[in-house]
Amino acid sequence: MKPILEMKEMVELIRTITNMYNHGWDERNGGNVSVLLEEKTVKEYLDPAKVLREIPTGFEAPELEGKYFLVTGTGKYFKNVQYAPEENLGIVRLTDGGKTAELLWGYSDGGKFTSEFPAHMMSHVARLKVDPQNRVVMHCHPANLLAMTYVHDLDEKQFTRTLWQMCTECIVVFPDGVNVLPWMLCGTNEIGEATAEKMKTARLVVWSQHGIYGAGKDLDETFGLIETAEKGAEIYMKIAHLPRVNTITDEQMHLLEKRFGVKARAGYLN
Ligand code: 13P
Ligand code: ZN
Repeated sequence: MKPILEMKEMVELIRTITNMYNHGWDERNGGNVSVLLEEKTVKEYLDPAKVLREIPTGFEAPELEGKYFLVTGTGKYFKNVQYAPEENLGIVRLTDGGKTAELLWGYSDGGKFTSEFPAHMMSHVARLKVDPQNRVVMHCHPANLLAMTYVHDLDEKQFTRTLWQMCTECIVVFPDGVNVLPWMLCGTNEIGEATAEKMKTARLVVWSQHGIYGAGKDLDETFGLIETAEKGAEIYMKIAHLPRVNTITDEQMHLLEKRFGVKARAGYLN
């Protein structure tokens, strides 16, 4: 058995979480991340027959039966993860149609997975249907995206177009745009279902007055998605109160589509 802390996904998750904290996206216990692991990878580091505890999930997800996830713990501070990974992270396998999570490693102080587990698992189901390569779901509280939800129209097309106009790279990085949920009670199956529904058409879902969800094939891609959207929101919050003299036009965005081989969400450009 190889040492679990040397697993590539573990090393990358700890680095990414530390970086998220350093970006100011995850105050206190804010934010959560889940990574879908391959069974053959898990078996190199753990005996999958050794279940430490069974934890009820409170929802069903038959599509994820037998799947393994590396997930942040609820109430855990991202700033501490690098110093005590086994307390702050866990590896679970879903069974019983998704109703039970079998703990194989972690949550060593008796803790459990994030309170946003429903949103994570339901988003994995939704994204895997669109992109079988999807492995990561990430949630955090970046200040400018959050601020934007107080002052900008929450219409998804308008919200997306504004972000695309804020930096040239935005349309290239997230041509599928940003979907937006109104304020909803977090940590519930309802917000999980609503997030998953929005994940069918975009890899970024804003939770108004709360934060953002991103999904992608690996941690770098997912982090980069949120980082780019947050940069767009930062520019917006710097200029929203000033007269707009220049912008990136739709014509220029069509040039970007051609140059980078991306296709903007249908109907979002004139
Ligand atoms: P957890 O500590 O349960 O992951 O919750 C943090 C959070 O951001 C809730 O939305
Ligand atoms: Zn949150």
